[in-house]
Amino acid sequence: MALKATVVGVGMVGEQIISILRERGFPIEWPPIVCATRERTEMLDGEEFYVKKTDESCFKGRDIVFFAGKEGARGASVQWGEIAQEAGAVCIDNGSDFRLDPTIPLVVPEVNPEAVTSKSRFIASPNCSTIQLVMVLHPLHQAARIRRVVVSTYQSVSGWGVRAYEDLLNQMPQALKSVNKVSFDPTVFSSSMAFNCLPHIDKFTPDGYTKEEMKMVLETQKIIGDESINISPTAVRVPVLVGHGESINIETENELSASQAQKVLSAAHGILVMDELNKDNPRHDPLERTCPVPLDIRKPEYQDLVLVGRIREDSTLKNGLNLWCVADNLRKGAALNVVQIGELLIKKGIIRP
Ligand SMILES: NC(=O)c1ccc[n+]([C@@H]2O[C@H](COP(=O)([O-])OP(=O)(O)OC[C@H]3O[C@@H](n4cnc5c(N)ncnc54)[C@H](OP(=O)(O)O)[C@@H]3O)[C@@H](O)[C@H]2O)c1
Repeated sequence: MALKATVVGVGMVGEQIISILRERGFPIEWPPIVCATRERTEMLDGEEFYVKKTDESCFKGRDIVFFAGKEGARGASVQWGEIAQEAGAVCIDNGSDFRLDPTIPLVVPEVNPEAVTSKSRFIASPNCSTIQLVMVLHPLHQAARIRRVVVSTYQSVSGWGVRAYEDLLNQMPQALKSVNKVSFDPTVFSSSMAFNCLPHIDKFTPDGYTKEEMKMVLETQKIIGDESINISPTAVRVPVLVGHGESINIETENELSASQAQKVLSAAHGILVMDELNKDNPRHDPLERTCPVPLDIRKPEYQDLVLVGRIREDSTLKNGLNLWCVADNLRKGAALNVVQIGELLIKKGIIRP
């Protein structure tokens, strides 16, 4: 028997959840109920959906609810999470509201599937920049124990949501005429994004970091289950539509050479290492190596992976490594991860089709 599913939120992530549920043959009655802040019909992943205004009827008799709404007191999972659980559904949330609640599992299925138990009724999915970070750090931590990480992100505008994506598309033609005369929505970002970079993602904290940066610290420690890993983050928005990059510097307790790290990462599920000699290049560089870029994740063969390159030893540290990784923030960074959590729930017999 097929499961009954509801998707709350039909923005950048909600549409991807619908697409991935179909693509992976997730065993649900089709179509799922989809709901948002107002009723309408909308084309989602090439199919016309009746989008309901979210109310209690969206959760009655449902087995699984995917939350992809916004955060905060008026956000989707804060408003509807308990109601969905009381109606009998297991909930999986993309938002940040409950991620650090010690009673709620925060899960990346390749990293900590054991966090999901038969008692789990509400499961949080990490922030997009955290997911690709822990996918890379976890196998290296198992191999050589990580002490300290310095991470700088290069995050696409879709990480904010559909309004930021559309705003950048509107800014581009204006910027081609005059880069300093671009109108933008100041309620989204504090600067225009066309031909620009902005080291400001989410709200500031009293110590000068941003919430996005602190998510990477606290969520990573919770998922890996080790608060002794020191993480020093800088989160930067770049004028890319989809796909986040991260430059990661890692200090380990035990020695791990670049080639050993390459082997460890190549063996890890969900990771593809792209770091080979690329001799015959038109730039006449005999030492040139391949490396992943955000546009790579638009290729179907790479879209669900965390791509890793530029793996090299840090000559300024005793046991130090530098590397670069790229992933689709809407898929592995959000929608794919929650569907994989749904698959884990089925595998563990917590929900039964
Ligand atoms: N974008 C990413 O890369 C990414 C990655 C990881 C996690 N996340 C998280 O995933 C969630 C969705 O992000 P997004 O990028 O898809 O945002 P988005 O494009 O702005 O879409 C948000 C959707 O949620 C709906 N919504 C907002 N508040 C709601 C409420 N109280 N009840 C029901 N529906 C509500 C909106 O409804 P209307 O359409 O009616 O306005 C809209 O459809 C956020 O919590 C975000 O932090 C996003």
